[in-house]
Amino acid sequence: MIQTRVIAVTRDQPEADILDEAAAVLLGGGLVAFATETVYGLGAVATNAAAVRGIFEAKGRPSFNPLIVHVAGIDQARRYTTDWSDRADALAHRFWPGPLTLVLPRTADVPDIVTGGGPTVGLRVPAPTVARRLVEHVGLPLAAPSANRSNRISPTRAEHVLADLDGRVHLILDSGPTTVGLESTVLDLSVDPTIILRPGPIGRDELAETLSAKVALKRHGGAEAREVGPHASPGMLSVHYAPQTPAVRVEASGRLAEVDWPERAALIAFEPIDVTHVPAQVVRFIQPDREVAAREFYDTLHNLDARQLDLIVAVEPPAGAEWDAIRDRLRRATVSYQRNNRR
Ligand code: TXA
Ligand code: MG
Repeated sequence: MIQTRVIAVTRDQPEADILDEAAAVLLGGGLVAFATETVYGLGAVATNAAAVRGIFEAKGRPSFNPLIVHVAGIDQARRYTTDWSDRADALAHRFWPGPLTLVLPRTADVPDIVTGGGPTVGLRVPAPTVARRLVEHVGLPLAAPSANRSNRISPTRAEHVLADLDGRVHLILDSGPTTVGLESTVLDLSVDPTIILRPGPIGRDELAETLSAKVALKRHGGAEAREVGPHASPGMLSVHYAPQTPAVRVEASGRLAEVDWPERAALIAFEPIDVTHVPAQVVRFIQPDREVAAREFYDTLHNLDARQLDLIVAVEPPAGAEWDAIRDRLRRATVSYQRNNRR
């Protein structure tokens, strides 16, 4: 069992001695959790296969699921792909640092364990100063999945990481809650046309505009999810980001009346709705603003999960591409409500 340490670090001006200490842990093959703008990541030096293996063990993650490699800038990203295309260059200049992961053909410097044995690597430059300075202090890229146990809710605060990974990570750098709150958009540039493997904060329209080309959104259903292999994005496995409390969703607030409400239940909705006849003990309206909703979504799930309720019921967010990412995460965190079919 590892002794987990939590150290507070200043978000915009991270203390050099703390970064040095974290870098030393990483260079020694250890695991360090740190905040990106999306969620906290569980980092190891990407070129150290043994260290990366430690990530899979700590998370209980299946080894075919590839990890995102975090770099400090475009120059460093280019070292790990054999094909820095015009598409990659245009996207990186517009969206990096930021919540966009580019899947590109990898070089031999990227160990198999990072890519799930596949021919591509997911690269991104995280926005927060802490994350980028950490990569710079280490001098090598950091492989980092979300810092949660496999199939649990992604962490947006250091407390979430500690609750899930205490004794499994050497160091947690606490720089406060993350600002974006939902995992990066994962875009596959190793194929043409470009395809979104995981919707996220950077939307399809912005990507298409930058590329002056159509961008497809990969559709994943239950059956397809079971066929996920090394070249797909297993973040798409159904019920992947689930709370431990049974959680269901309904398409619209009108269907809340069909729910067989247990005594201790919570309701989540993305706009104010009439709850006069909804017997939920706890009601959370997440702001009907996509960015605020993204920031609050996982935090809300973590909070509700901690209350040990019998059921969480969510009403799906409004239709429209700008809600793609939240709809996607909600669909993985819940099952569609059917009477007598609670998970
Ligand atoms: O915002 C984020 O992306 C966060 C922060 C820490 O950067 N990371 C994150 O990592 O969400 P993770 O491992 O929880 O999810 C990574 C997703 C998975 O769905 C994985 O399958 C996909 O990215 N992915 C990574 N590399 C890939 C590759 N080479 N080909 C296809 N999908 C890839
Ligand atoms: Mg994850």
